[in-house]
Amino acid sequence: MHFIAENLDDYVVEHSENEPVLLQQLTRETYQKILQPRMLSGHYQGRVLSMISKLVNPKSILEIGTYTGYSALCLAEGLQGSGTLHTIDINEELVYFQRKYFDRSEYGSQIHQHLGDALDIIPKLDKTFDLVFIDADKENYSNYFHVIIDRLNTGGIILSDNVLWSGKVLEKSFKKDDTSTPALIRYNALLKADTRVETVVLPIRDGLTISRKI
Ligand SMILES: C[S@@+](CC[C@H](N)C(=O)[O-])C[C@H]1O[C@@H](n2cnc3c(N)ncnc32)[C@H](O)[C@@H]1O
Repeated sequence: MHFIAENLDDYVVEHSENEPVLLQQLTRETYQKILQPRMLSGHYQGRVLSMISKLVNPKSILEIGTYTGYSALCLAEGLQGSGTLHTIDINEELVYFQRKYFDRSEYGSQIHQHLGDALDIIPKLDKTFDLVFIDADKENYSNYFHVIIDRLNTGGIILSDNVLWSGKVLEKSFKKDDTSTPALIRYNALLKADTRVETVVLPIRDGLTISRKI
């Protein structure tokens, strides 16, 4: 979705950081071999994630929804030297692909993969986090918030992707099988109302929310 004129969007990308070569290769191979390649964050949003992570300079990152590892590698760019990134995905067919690219990067030893349902795995992680990226099944965004918030350090950041859902969050009625749109509407309202965080929605790509724990 383009929130600004397409040629201005192109200008924004052209005047932002270049995409690292490894991420270009990961994108190419994802498009060649993996279903639903449009799920990966991509050049511009990836550079935004990298920049936010560098500003936060986290010791620990949690990512919910690894897919082929693009956003994990962007977020890892901001990790402290001894920091770790834990990333969770339910699709076991992606594990080898992710590891191949993590190990080609300079962050391989800092990135820990977890296979399974994030709602089962998060409570078992004996850690607190400085930065969390939520980018998995939209129906569970509110549940992810509830299991994460007590494990987010004060000043820590939750980034939530796809919060504008191609503009569908403005709709008042939904198709019968559309469970994502109402879930995202509830999630956006939850973030706005919860006094433990301060929140801004950025109209980047499909909508990216930054919530900071007070
Ligand atoms: C949009 S993709 C993630 C894209 C990735 N963050 C990126 O930017 O490159 C969503 C991923 O969430 C995973 N997923 C869906 N439901 C999940 C769940 N309950 N627990 C863990 N992962 C889940 C899917 O398998 C899929 O790989």
